[in-house]
Amino acid sequence: MTPTRAEPLRIGVLASGRGSNLQAIVDAIEGGRLDCRLAVVVSDRADCQALDRARKHGVEAVFVDPKGYADRETFDRAVLAVLAEHRVELVCLAGYMRIVTPIFVRALSGRIMNIHPGLLPAFPGLHAQRQALEHGVKVSGATVHFVDEGVDTGPIICQAAVPVREDDTEETLAARILEQEHQLYPRAIRLFAEGRLSIVGRRVLVRADA
Ligand code: GRF
Repeated sequence: MTPTRAEPLRIGVLASGRGSNLQAIVDAIEGGRLDCRLAVVVSDRADCQALDRARKHGVEAVFVDPKGYADRETFDRAVLAVLAEHRVELVCLAGYMRIVTPIFVRALSGRIMNIHPGLLPAFPGLHAQRQALEHGVKVSGATVHFVDEGVDTGPIICQAAVPVREDDTEETLAARILEQEHQLYPRAIRLFAEGRLSIVGRRVLVRADA
């Protein structure tokens, strides 16, 4: 058995929109499937559903207004300050619509994850499901990866495959991928919390739980 931590891992979620992945993380914690403490949810959008979901579950919800900062670096420093204030040990980007700066990545090296609705390294960036359909792939899916200084380029933690159907639209494919995302993200966080992940070059090694 992997030794358990004295205190649950403190995680922070960064989100800009709907927050369904945030909800999956909250549900996994509340359902006893993920032994973590969701210390704070931070958003760059005041009126996003993710902040509402956090508040509904009694989680600290913080809006950091990009308009209040001269550039992306100073904005990221403000977000880092919020995360530090809440003693966050792992940051999970979940539909966070900003590209984090190198300052942010270096401050939390190996402690930032992202979820992407595609099988990386195929179709990084926006509209991954549309890209997959336009390319004509037969299998798409979801990826959780560590964040490095590129866009969707960091070491891959886990992936789930989703077959593409001939009658799929961007919406139907996105919906089936999303179901997988909601399983995958809590699983990746649990592996991190249990201390079972190590990054070796581009590879993430997952230690067996035994
Ligand atoms: C998800 O598809 C995620 O993979 C991508 O953005 C979407 C966010 O959805 N990065 P939600 O806000 O978690 O519902």
